[in-house]
Amino acid sequence: MELLDTYKRPLRDLRISVTDRCNFRCPYCMPAEIYGYSYKFLNKNQILSFEEIERVAKLFVEIGVNKIRITGGEPLVRADIHNLIHPLSKIDGLNDLTMTTNGYLLPSMARKLKDAGLERITVSLDSLDPETFKEMNGRNFEPETVMLGIDEAIKVGFKPVKINVVVKKGVNENSILPLIRKYKGEDHILRFIEYMDVGTLNEWKKEHVITADEIVKIIQKEFPIEPIGENYIGEVASRYRFKDGNGEIGVISSVSVPFCSTCTRARLSTDGKLYTCLFSNIGHDIKTLLRSDKSDEKLKDFIAKLWGARDDRYSEIRSSLSTPTKKTKVEMYAIGG
Ligand code: GTP
Ligand code: 5AD
Ligand code: SF4
Ligand code: SF4
Repeated sequence: MELLDTYKRPLRDLRISVTDRCNFRCPYCMPAEIYGYSYKFLNKNQILSFEEIERVAKLFVEIGVNKIRITGGEPLVRADIHNLIHPLSKIDGLNDLTMTTNGYLLPSMARKLKDAGLERITVSLDSLDPETFKEMNGRNFEPETVMLGIDEAIKVGFKPVKINVVVKKGVNENSILPLIRKYKGEDHILRFIEYMDVGTLNEWKKEHVITADEIVKIIQKEFPIEPIGENYIGEVASRYRFKDGNGEIGVISSVSVPFCSTCTRARLSTDGKLYTCLFSNIGHDIKTLLRSDKSDEKLKDFIAKLWGARDDRYSEIRSSLSTPTKKTKVEMYAIGG
């Protein structure tokens, strides 16, 4: 029997964060003033081992998940991450195994990931302009290495590569058109994302958001586009194709047009807590259960009960919430967006 939450949404996707560390310090996620060199990230015993992740992934697939996305922090800073990809790629019933990365380590890692069985990859790249990119990544990194990573990913057979662009008003809206000029075509799918109030650190204000409609208008000025249907039910991005027939883009309207009614995503944090919403303030402890003598059946019952009780729809009710709730939301880098 299909597992449904209180709004009749099935459990289909699992996003697994494999590390809370990152080589970037994007101010909207891990501000450098807070996450300095002495910051204590989770230690080895606090984070799920590859064996534990593999076990829990299999259990999720047995109760309905067919898509797994590996996230971070930055997943490629976890040592030997390809050794996790390999067993996950062998799980029966899993149709889609993918990863979201900032791309900085991709030039040397793309081949290993592909060989290990990763099927798709999404790279975040907020600007091609070095100054703007540095402002967005907080570490003075140049965009070239990420661009090389994208090229390498295509070379080893990840095609198309999706490229995520978070658009923040007054910071990088001028990067939208140059990114399209560079990446328009069959090899890449750019996705422009409304800036969200994830976590507690980014001092988000509605005024920072460029809405999906506004993004489309900016694009239309130079590149005529038209909407096309979704690839699968509950796809996060709204798709558009270029009218010249050469490629498509996506726009993710999490703030202006929320998509909670079709949200089938669960998130597992680096330290083994299960979150039923990106904006949750409670993570349910799976790690302790995994490290006890609980049987697979007991673990599946536990997850199924949590999903059955799920009533999250944060983005739909965002505007009616009072500001103090934001104090307790889980941080973006702990669950990977
Ligand atoms: P595909 O599998 O290729 O369709 O990718 P995806 O869009 O599911 O994943 P990705 O990690 O690239 O996410 C794109 C953006 O959408 C990121 O900014 C995510 O934080 C955001 N996003 C993904 N899932 C959700 C969600 O359930 N709720 C909200 N509010 N935002 C989400
Ligand atoms: N709003 C929207 N997207 C965000 N991301 C990180 N922080 C935010 C935010 N505040 C993006 C990352 C990555 C994806 C998983 O989420 O850039 O592409
Ligand atoms: Fe790292 Fe991604 Fe957070 Fe930037 S948004 S600091 S790349 S985890
Ligand atoms: Fe799903 Fe929560 Fe995002 Fe809504 S806000 S789409 S319920 S993760």
